Amino acid sequence: MKNNFKTIAVMTSGGDAPGMNAAIRAVVRTAIVKGINVLAINGGYEGMIDGNFSEMNAESVGNIIHKGGTIIYTSRSERFRKPSWRKVAHEQLQKNNIDAVIIIGGNGSFAGAATFTSEFKIPFIGIPKTIDNDVFGTDYAIGFDTAINTALDALDKIRDTANSHHRLFFVEVMGRDLGFLALYSGIAAGAEAILVPEIKTNMEDLIALLEKGWQRKKNSMIVVVAEGAVKGGVMNIAEQVKMKFNHFDIRVSILGHIQRGGNPSCFDRVLASQLGNHSIQALLKGKKNVVIGMKNNKISYTSFAEASSYKHTVDQNMLQMANELTK
Ligand code: F6P
Repeated sequence: MKNNFKTIAVMTSGGDAPGMNAAIRAVVRTAIVKGINVLAINGGYEGMIDGNFSEMNAESVGNIIHKGGTIIYTSRSERFRKPSWRKVAHEQLQKNNIDAVIIIGGNGSFAGAATFTSEFKIPFIGIPKTIDNDVFGTDYAIGFDTAINTALDALDKIRDTANSHHRLFFVEVMGRDLGFLALYSGIAAGAEAILVPEIKTNMEDLIALLEKGWQRKKNSMIVVVAEGAVKGGVMNIAEQVKMKFNHFDIRVSILGHIQRGGNPSCFDRVLASQLGNHSIQALLKGKKNVVIGMKNNKISYTSFAEASSYKHTVDQNMLQMANELTK
């Protein structure tokens, strides 16, 4: 295999997700094995604009596979949305003799990459990460598995206290546009109801369901609410329920950024290693401007244009199943 790449860069972009470090490690180590130098772009697109590059080697990615966050930092860059700053970013890549960029990112980052690669020739390869699991072109994004287990651990703990006090809890989990996190953690926690952005919440149905739980003398009830599920958020929905249904003592818990941190699960570490390794293989095969995903356990390629035009959506059967099991 002929290698046209002397130096490549690796970067992380957008909200962090557990497993990013495992992906950085896989990219760096695979590149080195193939005789390619690697620079890190520190701080995502912001770092690209500012020329914040540093050299990576096999040692610099040692002892990171198990760590959450990203050792090369990340950002959500407003400047990169502007053509003038993208031009500066391109100049920085040229100045550092970068032949290709591996970007570990989500939808926003890939939309940025789609624009950038339509303006400039330098090839990019995307590795999907996000606890929201909403990147099109992969069944699972890096970080999702860890985040659902973090949320599940919290839900199990909430169940203990809810049961002890006969309480109704509303627990908000992350997930701005889609309900993957709420759905998976809610199913696994045996939640009494799961509210997701994909389905408009009907207050009467929700109250009828809680009423039924009350009639069945349930000791506790948990409603898992995706942050994007209801206007006004979890507080608003808890207030509305309280007005019509206050047999139970109601509490609200917002899990927040806890879901983004922590040691990545085995699944996320392995997925990150596979996608990181394949990102270099893809470059060497002449692929460019694609997101490397895993579909039905097989590596797949989706163009940045396509990946940033669509969202990975929750399986309707899963929604239906959750609905049936919470009855
Ligand atoms: O995209 C991942 C995510 O954690 C979403 O679930 C959440 O809405 C958002 O990022 C929070 O972003 P920030 O870290 O900027 O508060």
